[in-house]
Amino acid sequence: STAKTTLRVNGQRRELTVDTRTTLLDALREHLKLSGTKKGCDQGQCGACTVIVNGRRINSCLSLAIMHDGDEITTIEGLGTPDKLHPMQAAFVKHDGYQCGYCTPGQICSAVSVLDEIRQGIPSHVSADLNVKPLLSVDEIRERMSGNLCRCGAYSNILEAITEVGG
Ligand code: FES
Repeated sequence: STAKTTLRVNGQRRELTVDTRTTLLDALREHLKLSGTKKGCDQGQCGACTVIVNGRRINSCLSLAIMHDGDEITTIEGLGTPDKLHPMQAAFVKHDGYQCGYCTPGQICSAVSVLDEIRQGIPSHVSADLNVKPLLSVDEIRERMSGNLCRCGAYSNILEAITEVGG
């Protein structure tokens, strides 16, 4: 059966009528033609399909589109434009944080979310008094990015890029 769902994608209201079994990933790629979000394994193993939903990253292949009625969704297309890259996108370019590029949108959405997770976790008196970026250890980034696989093995450059933005 089909159902209507209304998503806010990259700041725009998008109404969809989808099969109730349609994943959020397929809704983005096939219904909304936002092909920046990639399909790797389609079963929650690789992270290529990572998008940000209400400020938290998820694997969009594991979620049904109809579960996201009213949700705020950010995909790689919503983070920056070719003329005005998001700082994380710029850092990936600078540090060659990719080879084939297939995992990159998911890596970047995940990385943006990781920094938010860590910022939210620091005690407020520290951030308020010092007005500094949180200290990120490379191990912590590596651990939190472990759901995003890169078959080319560009991990060290990916870590450098994220560390530059958040470290
Ligand atoms: Fe969703 Fe691999 S395509 S985790």
